[in-house]
Amino acid sequence: MKLDPEQESILKGDNGRVMAMAMETVVKYGEAFGAKRLVPIKSAHLAGTFGIGPYRAYIQVLRQIVSEGLRVKVPTTVNPKPGYDLNFINKHIVFTNQQSLEQLLTAIGITPNYSCVCYEKANVPSFGDRLAWAESSAVQFANSVLGARTNRNSILIDVCCAITGFTPEFGYLLDAHRRGQILVKLNINKMDAPALGYVLGRKVVDKVPVIEHYPFTRIELKNMGGSMAASGGVALFHVEGLTPEAPDMKTVFDGPPMETITVTQEDLDALRIRKSEMSGIVIFGCPQMTCEETLAIAERFVNKRVEIPTWFCLAPDELTLFKAHYLYGKTLDAGITISQDCPLAAFSMRLNRKRIITPSGKMLYYLKGVNYGTEDDCLRACGVLQ
Ligand code: F3S
Repeated sequence: MKLDPEQESILKGDNGRVMAMAMETVVKYGEAFGAKRLVPIKSAHLAGTFGIGPYRAYIQVLRQIVSEGLRVKVPTTVNPKPGYDLNFINKHIVFTNQQSLEQLLTAIGITPNYSCVCYEKANVPSFGDRLAWAESSAVQFANSVLGARTNRNSILIDVCCAITGFTPEFGYLLDAHRRGQILVKLNINKMDAPALGYVLGRKVVDKVPVIEHYPFTRIELKNMGGSMAASGGVALFHVEGLTPEAPDMKTVFDGPPMETITVTQEDLDALRIRKSEMSGIVIFGCPQMTCEETLAIAERFVNKRVEIPTWFCLAPDELTLFKAHYLYGKTLDAGITISQDCPLAAFSMRLNRKRIITPSGKMLYYLKGVNYGTEDDCLRACGVLQ
């Protein structure tokens, strides 16, 4: 890999031993993927916010960074907290490093947004910006909906990029890897965007799908992308005439697609909970909900009362907005619990083994004991819709 003089000097140790190690990590990461150079980044987003007990190596690296007084070189947001104080097990058995981890993240200068929908307010990239983000759902949104450029970086690689301010140029940073590969036709009469994302992730795995035109809302794009990035390794999708790099099919494809697939209503409905199955908890918000999304769902709970525990998980800055709205009080009156945590982490240990129902394809993919339901299925499960 060809480095410029500034990068060479960091690698030689002119900015200290730990900075040199961070640079060496970034260079080796790039070499493994055939990158020819490092490029400066506009921002970073870190996924390592769960202070899990055995996460010792991560904590040690952060301590070394802090010990040399290093801070992130670019605006750097972070993923949600894991519900550390939700119950005894989370606090005393699972997330025992939570407080030290948060102190270390603060010490390296992160923006304490604690949200995976960082792209809504805390860290908003522009079209074409090069980033070093981790968190598959955020990466998916930045690439697909905003037209920024980031690979699906891992925990620690994200930190090394944030500290050095550079990322290797390969994969989704390059035009050649951002072109459409698989054409997706829809034979659907009732859109269920998270289910569509889940089905697509399973079908296309790590290719770039181009969905024929459908007027998805921004919220649908978020929830579809989150599911797709979990059930597959997809980091970029296009929607004909909607997302920025796909004004039309001719522009987004280089010649004919390598494959054409059709997703049907039956494919989507097959994910849904069966009528005979019972759920013990209803969870909305993975990826975390925005205020706008919460308001639309909260309307449906006005003057009603949930019959089983029901959670809304919002990004902290979106919760601040929601609290100022009259529907916030109505939501509490309906018996809903409001959280700013990542529900996937918060509910990973459930001693009562209650089954969850959620409209999140990401939770369905990662967590045991989860049923998928549309928004209406979830409302039926908590007893506010017949
Ligand atoms: Fe976000 Fe946690 Fe879901 S990070 S996408 S709420 S798994």
